[in-house]
Amino acid sequence: MKTSRILLSLAALSLAFSCGSSSEGDSGAAVAAAGKQLFVANGCVVCHGETGKGDGVGSVALDPKPRNYTDAAWQASVTDAHIKQVIVQGGAANGLSPTMPPHPQFQTKEGDLTQLVAFIRSLSGK
Ligand code: HEC
Repeated sequence: MKTSRILLSLAALSLAFSCGSSSEGDSGAAVAAAGKQLFVANGCVVCHGETGKGDGVGSVALDPKPRNYTDAAWQASVTDAHIKQVIVQGGAANGLSPTMPPHPQFQTKEGDLTQLVAFIRSLSGK
């Protein structure tokens, strides 16, 4: 039962992304939207969830749970540079849970990292 709901929301999600390719210009919102696309395309959403609350399908088995990006206190406690570093190096290398995987593919992609950070920051307080 739960699975069908999850599949449904995944279907809705991919639909939403296939429809809206953006040409909003270089606004902060557009950067965050590009980050959201990377977040989905690279599987972050599976653990971190669509709204960044750490409640993705794959989070069920995880302890600790993925970070809740909507937590303003967490947002205030980390720098953009730290977020980028954890994305590239993963949790284990940064004293966090090893279930947060490293993503070396972003090592040389500062633009992608900036977009991911913009998306993560856009979720604060939501
Ligand atoms: C297999 C599940 C999984 C995937 C996939 C995953 N994460 Fe995570 N992530 C986690 C977990 C679990 C934590 C919490 C680690 C902790 O608190 O010890 C975390 C933490 C984080 C944090 C917070 C770091 C901090 O200092 O609090 C950021 C930022 C993050 N992930 C970004 C990403 C991005 C971006 C992607 C995709 C490119 C991604 N994650 C993919 C599981 C995942």
